[in-house]
Amino acid sequence: NERKFFVGGNWKLNGDRQSIDGIIQFLNAGPLDENTEVVVSPPAIYLDYVKSKLGASVATSAQNCYKLSKGAFTGENSAAMAKDVGATWVILGHSERRHVFGETDELIGEKVKHVLSEGLGVIACIGEKLEEREANQTNDVVFRQTKSIAANISDWSRVVLAYEPVWAIGTGKTATPDQAQQVHKDLREWLAQNVSAEVAKACRIIYGGSVSAGNCRELATKGDVDGFLVGGASLKPDFVQIINARK
Ligand code: G3H
Repeated sequence: NERKFFVGGNWKLNGDRQSIDGIIQFLNAGPLDENTEVVVSPPAIYLDYVKSKLGASVATSAQNCYKLSKGAFTGENSAAMAKDVGATWVILGHSERRHVFGETDELIGEKVKHVLSEGLGVIACIGEKLEEREANQTNDVVFRQTKSIAANISDWSRVVLAYEPVWAIGTGKTATPDQAQQVHKDLREWLAQNVSAEVAKACRIIYGGSVSAGNCRELATKGDVDGFLVGGASLKPDFVQIINARK
């Protein structure tokens, strides 16, 4: 297919200047597969620092932002600010934003709309909890989440969908390649029916949840797995192997 492989590193709430220097060192040393689009997402405080030290082939992303560009919203960051320090993406709807910070489908939709209007790309995250999977509600949940994201998308070329089953995040329990492929395929079908055939064909659907140097290559063989959103392993040199999973 013609979808460019996409690998994002979500550092979450980790890092200080010293450890970040180490990450920048292994990223700049690579070598990174030129056929992979690579994005790293440091804590907002370090976005400027990371961008200034990273080679041009790696883009930067905020991990979240508010739905407005400025104002009396103590503690928030805006897409405009991320853009001002060189970021080109924002992760939205991450499972931790949904389940630790209580973000709703509605708020995530508003953020998607805002970030796209600011000219940035969106890595939009969806995924079911363990009890939802066990109750056979996986598709109900991910379709519901995708619907409120899709309703706010003006330009699909700047959107990557990240399927991250909550039970696989930070647990060492990865979805099997077949489990990931099944949901990605169903999501692509949903896009074909609810958005358009073109969008279904072109939109990258990436997988996240305990992706490692050890499991990335097999996951990457699946036809509807267009890349990864990596947490823990993106802080380690293993991340280079994950970027190169198709090489
Ligand atoms: O955004 C990344 C995901 O939450 C996955 O995190 O690779 O540490 O399981 P993880």
